[in-house]
Amino acid sequence: MTKTQKIILSVFVVAMLGFAVFSMLGGEQFQREAQPSRILDPEYWADEHPLIYQSYLRNSNEGDVEFGGEQQIDYIEKYPQIRVLYEGYGFSKEYFSARGHVYALEDVINIGRPRPGASCLACKTADYDSLYEQYGSELFGMDFVEVAQEARYPITCYSCHRNEPGELHITVPHAEEGFQKLDFEVERGSQNCAQCHVEYYIDPETTAIVLPWENGLTVEDYEQTFNELDYADWIHPRTGTPLIKIQHPEYEMYRGSPHHNLGMDCNACHMPQMQSEDGEEYVSHWWTSPLKTAKESCLGCHGNHDEESIAQWVNGLQQEVEDKQKQAMDLLVELVESLAVRVEEGDIEDETLEIVRELHRRSQIRWDYIFAENSTGSHHFARAHAYLDEAIQLAQEALEVLENN
Ligand code: HEC
Ligand code: HEC
Ligand code: HEC
Ligand code: HEC
Repeated sequence: MTKTQKIILSVFVVAMLGFAVFSMLGGEQFQREAQPSRILDPEYWADEHPLIYQSYLRNSNEGDVEFGGEQQIDYIEKYPQIRVLYEGYGFSKEYFSARGHVYALEDVINIGRPRPGASCLACKTADYDSLYEQYGSELFGMDFVEVAQEARYPITCYSCHRNEPGELHITVPHAEEGFQKLDFEVERGSQNCAQCHVEYYIDPETTAIVLPWENGLTVEDYEQTFNELDYADWIHPRTGTPLIKIQHPEYEMYRGSPHHNLGMDCNACHMPQMQSEDGEEYVSHWWTSPLKTAKESCLGCHGNHDEESIAQWVNGLQQEVEDKQKQAMDLLVELVESLAVRVEEGDIEDETLEIVRELHRRSQIRWDYIFAENSTGSHHFARAHAYLDEAIQLAQEALEVLENN
């Protein structure tokens, strides 16, 4: 071997060794180069954002609070009235309360209700975005079970950040379309959540998910929109009333509340700034009852309270909503039963029947807006009472019309 050859060889060996060491130390770098076009696995960010990742994992915790929380409540067992109120519709057969984001895909797959199509996956899996790219609007009507097998992840970092943790993105296509119907911008700290925590309906022709936001976000606005579309989710089999099933309108309910008027968005209470044991600050990614993080979420402003007393205050206000909700449900059941008898007997004028059905529809959409909203009134107590009062009044009116005709 010549001297030059020796030099070349040793340079080569050193370079190879260096490369091997670099590979071992810089494994991260190499993984990054092989970065998938969509980073759907939350674990990918575990090293870069350990505290956020740890708090994200808490979404699978079971926990205990009075009304909210991760335990799945069987609503039909808790509120037997809904067998009658949702009769003829899937929710009378199975209706569980919501739990953590990490269960979203599993829970929708295990649901016992019929699903109109694969569009249901939009709010349950970070894979939806790529499925949509692959199939386009064909996706909406495709077989749910088949498409669900292609989805691998529940709601993950990608759902709100795409590949850029910290940057906020909208990944649910129907939400993006819905937002454009509004004459205001959805607030920064609420826009991620408003992708999913809103009322929607399924267009009967295309089976696409649509936000009914043409006229605004209150129950009156929704009523107007559905009337203009001549839309009903289903017809009650015994009363013939064309009814609307409201779905989790958290964003809508919250808008205009005292806290919203202070400029607070969803993240203010549901994603507070936390401190780790080492005193490091991070943004909580545990989406749960804010009463579990009351110190960080509430006490900064409600300094006259401690964690226990603020929970008691809120639970007391929630109990009032719960009681009024039951009162509205009982009246609605009475209305359905009385109306069903009259329809069966056929001794009621068409015009009167129309009036009573209209009152039934209006009463039920108001009760359901509050019932289907997941905060038991907490997002806007005054609005919860106002809608439930109206629901009760409209049901009473309907019962009076029936009695007098
Ligand atoms: C001012 C604080 C506050 C803000 C802001 C807020 N929430 Fe809440 N949220 C609450 C409270 C309090 C509850 C009731 C928790 C309970 O029952 O234990 C709740 C409950 C919920 C629940 C049900 C939780 C469960 O455990 O079942 C969801 C979902 C939710 N909020 C979503 C949102 C969304 C979406 C927004 C933004 C539009 C928002 N919240 C804004 C305070 C807030
Ligand atoms: C449901 C929506 C949502 C998901 C899912 C989500 N985030 Fe976030 N994330 C947010 C929002 C909203 C903010 C902004 C909070 C703020 O500004 O107070 C944020 C902020 C952040 C930030 C910036 C924190 C800071 O100090 O400014 C990082 C980093 C981050 N998220 C990482 C992640 C990672 C990693 C995951 C998955 C393990 C994840 N996020 C999942 C909504 C989400
Ligand atoms: C991609 C859709 C999607 C986005 C985005 C989203 N959520 Fe959710 N969220 C869900 C679904 C679906 C569930 C119910 C999961 C289940 O029951 O399996 C849920 C459940 C919850 C719960 C209840 C957890 C429990 O313990 O009962 C809270 C609180 C919540 N979300 C808050 C938020 C907040 C705050 C944001 C915005 C930062 C947000 N979500 C963004 C779809 C979403
Ligand atoms: C940025 C400050 C701030 C934070 C954070 C905050 N609040 Fe408030 N809250 C207020 C103010 C101010 C009012 C009075 C508003 C009014 O009457 O117009 C209020 C009113 C209330 C009310 C009575 C109004 C109603 O809705 O019936 C309740 C209950 C309440 N807060 C609970 C909470 C809880 C629970 C949290 C944490 C999850 C929280 N607040 C976080 C400032 C805050």
